[in-house]
Amino acid sequence: MAAAALIGLGAAIPLDRLAQGPAIPSRIPATFPRTWAYGTASHATFAPHAMVASNNRLAAEVGAEIMEQGGNAIDAAVATGFALAVTFPEAGNLGGGGYMVIRMADGRVAALDYRETAPLAATRDMYVGANGKLTGESVIGPRASGVPGAVAGMLEAHRRYGVLPVAKVLAPAIRLASEGFIVDSTFFRSLSGDKYRIEGFAGKSVFFPDGVPPQIGSRLRQPQLARTIGLISDSGAVVFYRGSIADSIVAEMRRDGGLITKADLGRYRPVWREPIRSSYRGYSLITMPPSSSGGITVTETLNILEAYGPAAPFGTAERVHAVASASQRAFVDRNSKLGDPAFVGVPLSTLTSKSYARSVAKSISRDHADPTTRVASRMREGNETTHWSVVDPSGNAVATTSTLNDLYGSGVYVSGGGFFLNDEMDDFTTQPGTPNMFGLIQGEANSIAPGKRMLSAISPTIVLDPGGSLLLVTGARGGPRIISATSQIILNVIDHRMSLADALSAPRLHHQALPDSIRLEAGGFDPAVIARLRAMGHYVYELNSGIAAAASVIRVKGGYEGMDDPRSHGGAVGF
Ligand code: GLY
Repeated sequence: MAAAALIGLGAAIPLDRLAQGPAIPSRIPATFPRTWAYGTASHATFAPHAMVASNNRLAAEVGAEIMEQGGNAIDAAVATGFALAVTFPEAGNLGGGGYMVIRMADGRVAALDYRETAPLAATRDMYVGANGKLTGESVIGPRASGVPGAVAGMLEAHRRYGVLPVAKVLAPAIRLASEGFIVDSTFFRSLSGDKYRIEGFAGKSVFFPDGVPPQIGSRLRQPQLARTIGLISDSGAVVFYRGSIADSIVAEMRRDGGLITKADLGRYRPVWREPIRSSYRGYSLITMPPSSSGGITVTETLNILEAYGPAAPFGTAERVHAVASASQRAFVDRNSKLGDPAFVGVPLSTLTSKSYARSVAKSISRDHADPTTRVASRMREGNETTHWSVVDPSGNAVATTSTLNDLYGSGVYVSGGGFFLNDEMDDFTTQPGTPNMFGLIQGEANSIAPGKRMLSAISPTIVLDPGGSLLLVTGARGGPRIISATSQIILNVIDHRMSLADALSAPRLHHQALPDSIRLEAGGFDPAVIARLRAMGHYVYELNSGIAAAASVIRVKGGYEGMDDPRSHGGAVGF
């Protein structure tokens, strides 16, 4: 048949819809500057039935293995999460927390908030020293840790949506911890880079047994962690929050003056929330509401860009200016108005409304930058969280992101438990007006209070095409840059019609309002574009490190493509 459609009673039906159900939007090859690091080298993995994409390939293999045994996307996401705690301890965790967005093939959607909470003994100014300056205790050591939510959260997701027994779902993680896995150069470098953080605590004997990380090519076994996951498999979350693992966490706290008590652990609960549902140029988004700022800020950024008008071509000064200016404005709202909805009123419906976005978009000039207040930057490169995306053979989808905050969290390692504790307390406003480790200057809405969830940037998002069919499952690691990467991947797929490989490889920009500047990935933007942005009044500088790292799955003709970010070292595994 010559034509690409059958003509019925006045309606054209695309051939690919006839071949396999919903239509697949065609993709257009992207072009990037010759200086760009990920120009043509990256590629996605294709599989006809199911896919897991993760920042760690061994963990992605676990997710695929579970689906091949009959598990659904939630079983696979939970199995991947526990495996990440073993094979990717820099960010995968039992001692941290995260967020999960679910869309079942029958159209049900859910969002699970398994973020850490501040211990009951936490106080608003607990990190401000007698000299009025921050003490640094929010980023390293036992006082940096929030009450972990990862174990309760993953088991709760499994309880509500999983189909395989929990013992089957956790078995691969137990196997990887007890039998070990081969240390590769990426893991070796990661451990070496964070030696200073780990060696002051009990993890030294596991990760630096002779003062150096395990040799590349050697097998790392973690028997304590295998025992902990085995206990969770046998007894459920209760052993972690009220039983022997809780005792080990509290003992670790007592050794060095940490705040988490048995009462804190006993009262921890993950929270099911209504996902944010929004749209962008006819596509639907299902994303994470507060206590993460991610979904609101992604939604607001995209709404502003939709109101601003048609997208200029990728990589042009006009496009960078529009995306950066929308992002700057969404971050102004994020940094000042958002916090844990159990403690502060969050203007969710305003910030995600199209009419609000239209009024904000009007404030963006076509040819010059508007300054946020100028401040000194303490911005650091953050990549300490981990995201994974899953689609199963029925079309159920999960986007979930988990974090210890810094790489290896607070550095505190629970003796007898075999895992690191987070340093998530630094995501609170530790001191109004003072930047946190990501350079974010946040407001009172995110101040510390007992039992409160610290604001996150985590942005797990599921995109449906205009026909309502699953298109994209995405999210990223990288502190506030998660919001930029997630937004820009969605823009690349919808506005620029990029393939998944191009959408993830494309050079990124970041503007978080303060510091008042556009960060561009070095080599990704033409010098003439940068000159034009500067002429518009933007303060621009190029970063030699990547802006976040995503792991995504997209529906393509005949199946799915999955990919870990070229800025990362994981992989996608499907069948
Ligand atoms: N700890 C990084 C975040 O949750 O945004």
